[in-house]
Amino acid sequence: MGKAIIGVCAVILVAMVVAVAADAIHSRSGRSEGEMEASKKAVKTICQPTHYKEECEKSLAGSNTTDPKELIKVGIQAAIREIEKVVSNFDTIQDGTTDLRSRQALDDCKEQMGYSINNLKKSLNQLSSSDVSRLDVYVENLRIWLGGSITFQQTCLYGFENVSTEAREKMKKLLNTSQMLTSNGLNMVSAIPELNRDLKFPGLTRARGDTRKLLAKDGFCSTPN
Ligand SMILES: *[C@@H]1O[C@H](CO)[C@@H](O)[C@H](O)[C@H]1NC(C)=O
Ligand SMILES: *[C@@H]1O[C@H](CO)[C@@H](O)[C@H](O)[C@H]1NC(C)=O
Ligand SMILES: *[C@@H]1O[C@H](CO)[C@@H](O)[C@H](O)[C@H]1NC(C)=O
Repeated sequence: MGKAIIGVCAVILVAMVVAVAADAIHSRSGRSEGEMEASKKAVKTICQPTHYKEECEKSLAGSNTTDPKELIKVGIQAAIREIEKVVSNFDTIQDGTTDLRSRQALDDCKEQMGYSINNLKKSLNQLSSSDVSRLDVYVENLRIWLGGSITFQQTCLYGFENVSTEAREKMKKLLNTSQMLTSNGLNMVSAIPELNRDLKFPGLTRARGDTRKLLAKDGFCSTPN
C-alpha cells in the first residue's frame, strides 16, 4: 500500500514539476505566449536525458503541453510515424530489386518493423494508463518495450549483413531517424524516476517545497485515481 501510494505520487510529481515551471513563466508573460514558452521549456527539460537532443526537440516542437507523459507520448508517436514512413518506402525499394536475398531481407525487415511498432504502441498504452501502482514496474515495462522496439530495428539491419553493402547502407540511412527517435523514447522513460527523485532542473529547485505542499493539500497522494 505504502509503495503503491509512493508510485502514484511519483508520477504526479513528475507532472507537477514541469507544471510548476510552466506557472513561473506564465506569470511573467502573456497567457498563450506563456503557454508556448512553458511548453518549449518542458520540451527542453524532457529532452535533456536523450542522446539525440536535436531530434528530440524537433519531434516535440509542435506540442503544446507541459505534461511530461504527454510529451513522451508525442515523441513515441513520432517514432511510429517514422517507421510507418520507412515501411511504405520498402515497396519502392523492393520493386527495383531483383536480387532474391535482398527481397528476402526486406520481407524479414518488414516483419521486424511490425513488431517494432507493436512495442511502441504497447508503451503508448502504458503511458496512457492511469494505473500506476508501482513506479518501478511502470518504468521497467516501458523500458522493455522501447528496448525491444530498438532491437527489432537493429535485427532488420542485421538481416542485410551478408546481402550487399549497398543495400545495408541504404537501409541504415532509411532507419536512421526512427532509431534515434526510439532511442530518445527509451532515454526519456528511463529518466522518469530521476526526474522525480532529484528535481534538479533549472528553476525547479525553488518550487520543490511548494509542489510537495500542494500535493499534500490537494490530497493527491492519498487518493490516487
Ligand atoms: C496551447 O494550449 C492552451 C491550453 O490548452 C491554449 O489555450 C492555447 O491556445 C494553445 N496554443 C497554441 C499555440 O496552440
Ligand atoms: C553472415 O555471414 C557470416 C559468415 O558466413 C555468418 O556468421 C553470419 O551469421 C551471417 N549473417 C547473417 C545475418 O546471415
Ligand atoms: C544517424 O545519423 C547521424 C548523422 O550521420 C549520426 O550522427 C547518428 O549517430 C545516426 N544515428 C543512428 C541511430 O544510427
